[in-house]
Amino acid sequence: MMLSNPFSTSSCSERVPSVLEAIGNTPLIRLEKASLDLNTEVWAKVEAFNPGASAKDRVAKYMIEQAERSGALKPGGTIIEATSGNTGYSLAMIAAVKGYHCVLTVTSKISQDKTNLLKAMGAEVVICPKDAKPTDPNSYYEKAKALAAEIPNSVYLNQNFNTDNMDAHYYSTAPEIWQQSEGMITHFVGSTGTGGTVSGIAKYLKEQKPEVQVIGVDAYGSVLTNYWKTGEYDPSLISSYRIEGTGKNIIPANLKRELIDHYEQVRDREAAFRTRELSEVEGLMMGYSSGANLQAVYQAAEAGMFSPNDFVVVIFHDHGSRYLGKVYSDAWMKEQGWM
Ligand SMILES: Cc1ncc(COP(=O)(O)O)c(C=O)c1O
Repeated sequence: MMLSNPFSTSSCSERVPSVLEAIGNTPLIRLEKASLDLNTEVWAKVEAFNPGASAKDRVAKYMIEQAERSGALKPGGTIIEATSGNTGYSLAMIAAVKGYHCVLTVTSKISQDKTNLLKAMGAEVVICPKDAKPTDPNSYYEKAKALAAEIPNSVYLNQNFNTDNMDAHYYSTAPEIWQQSEGMITHFVGSTGTGGTVSGIAKYLKEQKPEVQVIGVDAYGSVLTNYWKTGEYDPSLISSYRIEGTGKNIIPANLKRELIDHYEQVRDREAAFRTRELSEVEGLMMGYSSGANLQAVYQAAEAGMFSPNDFVVVIFHDHGSRYLGKVYSDAWMKEQGWM
């Protein structure tokens, strides 16, 4: 008797001309524990399945292609970006395939694992002080701008203010979620850093089904929740926190507050334990912001936002291998006073 191949999956049936065509089409995976705990369907869009192990592959690819189309980026040119790591890795990966140079400014908050990854992908990494104010010439934003002015034939892609970022999600991540949920989605939950993921996905989903509720996730110490509530930028709220990728100290143009229905702020400690729970219980080794998003799902449930017939989609932005020295390290957890 012929047995069917136990490893066959529909998503691995294609062959592709380069790693660029392997970006996207990530799975939507049911979260067993969260669905049971919360008595509603909770599904995760697992972006770690991208070749660069994060959702930023989609953004990097789209921003580069748009820069090529507009003529801003020419053969042999240099791509510059200020990044918390993932965008940098994706840009470096695509730069390698397309033959561009890649210079990344990062803050000293970045993990050593992430810095090593960027360098391994051939990028030049410029580390800037994590506590520099956004307008300080030493901040990673200002440094990226200055480098773009200095380096001939270079382009600063500026993911915070370049709305190609949210368009990348509008054109790729969102239609995938819509199709994979067969239109059943009722809530979408995602971290907001640049805001591109949540804004692009919210725009598309609300066009298909206006009643879809979008929940933004933020960290304490970020200015975004207050901006969403009031429309004001209040720098007095800025303080340091541990979660990477969630929250900001500026208001990015990709954050469209009118598309977000609700915000949940999460604490470093709770997000860290949820991150570990994901790998220990669901077998999904995800990054710190994924734990933050799962924590936000639990908080939203506690606030009475879900009912038993709902279909909640939470996005997991990146893979946990980039955080081995952080949330997955008992020593690091003890240093924080959490274990
Ligand atoms: C790990 C991680 N999670 C979440 C986010 C937030 O996504 P976005 O910038 O689209 O708001 C980022 C963005 O840098 C990230 O790197």
